[in-house]
Amino acid sequence: MHGFRTIIEPFRIKSVEPLRLTSREERARRLQAAGYNLFALPSDDVMIDLLTDSGTGAMSAEQWAALQRGDESYAGSPSFYRFEAAVKDLFAFTHVIPTHQGRAAEKILFSVVGGPGKVVPNNTHFDTTRANVEASGAKAVDLVIAEGRRPELKHPFKGNMDLSALERVLSEERGKVPLVMVTVTNNSGGGQPVSLENLKGVRAVCDKFGLPLFLDGCRFAENAWFIHEREPGQQGRQVRDIVRDMGDLADGMTMSAKKDGLANIGGWLALDDDAWAQQARNLLILTEGFPTYGGLAGRDLDAIAQGLAEVVRHDYLRYRVRSTQYVGEGLLRAGVPIVQPTGGHAVYLDARAMLPHIPPLQYPGQALATALYLEGGVRGCEIGTVMFGLSPDGKESPAAMDLVRLAIPRRTYTQSHMDYVIEVVERVAHRAKALKGYRIVEQPAALRHFSAKFAPLA
Ligand code: F0G
Repeated sequence: MHGFRTIIEPFRIKSVEPLRLTSREERARRLQAAGYNLFALPSDDVMIDLLTDSGTGAMSAEQWAALQRGDESYAGSPSFYRFEAAVKDLFAFTHVIPTHQGRAAEKILFSVVGGPGKVVPNNTHFDTTRANVEASGAKAVDLVIAEGRRPELKHPFKGNMDLSALERVLSEERGKVPLVMVTVTNNSGGGQPVSLENLKGVRAVCDKFGLPLFLDGCRFAENAWFIHEREPGQQGRQVRDIVRDMGDLADGMTMSAKKDGLANIGGWLALDDDAWAQQARNLLILTEGFPTYGGLAGRDLDAIAQGLAEVVRHDYLRYRVRSTQYVGEGLLRAGVPIVQPTGGHAVYLDARAMLPHIPPLQYPGQALATALYLEGGVRGCEIGTVMFGLSPDGKESPAAMDLVRLAIPRRTYTQSHMDYVIEVVERVAHRAKALKGYRIVEQPAALRHFSAKFAPLA
């Protein structure tokens, strides 16, 4: 395919799902009924659903075939062994513990290693990771490089960990840190990759303090593709080998197979430490299931095994990252401020820059996300002060950034869907000055973005 301007989708469509086309009036009613929270919308009322790339992708014909091979034995199912082999083919960890999704792996990991007084550094904790660290009583610290906090700034590896900040935290908090975590790609910071060089640097700092390093590997293949494209000396390599290198630098990982597992459900906790693994399996049995299925059906394990073989293919990753960049480029051409460079799985609109007249505590991200739905039935996700502005002590403060994420499900939408999305955002951008902020009328104590209710400000 080299030499062509157009990078085609490396698949054709065998089965279609109709989209229900809605009118603006209908969407206005739906929005009000949902308390202006897009999570509360029935998905039938959404035309292009970019709420998340998690579990929303299309499976391949081979994955559907793998479902049929699924063996539903409670213990020792061959599906588990195929799953375990597929994980170990990419990541050489001793223990592979299946979970129903990523946060279950996080819950188990931090139940084992977290607790009051503990401190967990990460480049940027995803919201469920932070919530699970905090639910154990531990403190979650984000140490991404300074460039990673500046939406307009270009840097090839904006997800990198700030190594001197990490060293400072580890010496200040000596004895309190059970492990260091690195999220690849850095979802909350814009889907930005972490370089192999930076991972080696984190490894060296961990070694200095005798600490294990864990990956939050949700988008490991996209991260490896960015390394392949951007890191000096990596261009001639196979992504699968880069993934190996990433894993070899770590002592374990949490994973949501709903992202780079190319599956609709699933995850795992993998690690080398025998004692931690034993504790983790005991907790797994308590809430997820027996260690050879971990809350999944055997057929899900088979779908993941096949997904892991497909996700590291270069033709897939080239298309995947390029099609996300395509959306970013279209928006930049239309003068819409986005996090740059475009991330792997999503385009992040800079709502704070787009709506400077709406202060962070009136939720510019929420204002933009609801406007995109109203305008064109496009559902994105606020990643800003609604998501991160409420601390466990009940105090509210502006998040580092107010973004709206347009996450792109894998192998699901076509280029014309994305052209439409660009047009919708462009139209909203034209009337940005007229958008109003929101106030929260109802919210839970944690993870409020899922269920808070809003009212538009006059
Ligand atoms: N870590 C990262 C970096 C994630 O992006 C997610 C999920 C998780 C952990 C938790 O995995 O959903 O399987 O329990 N992110 C989804 C998203 C929900 O929309 O970004 P999970």
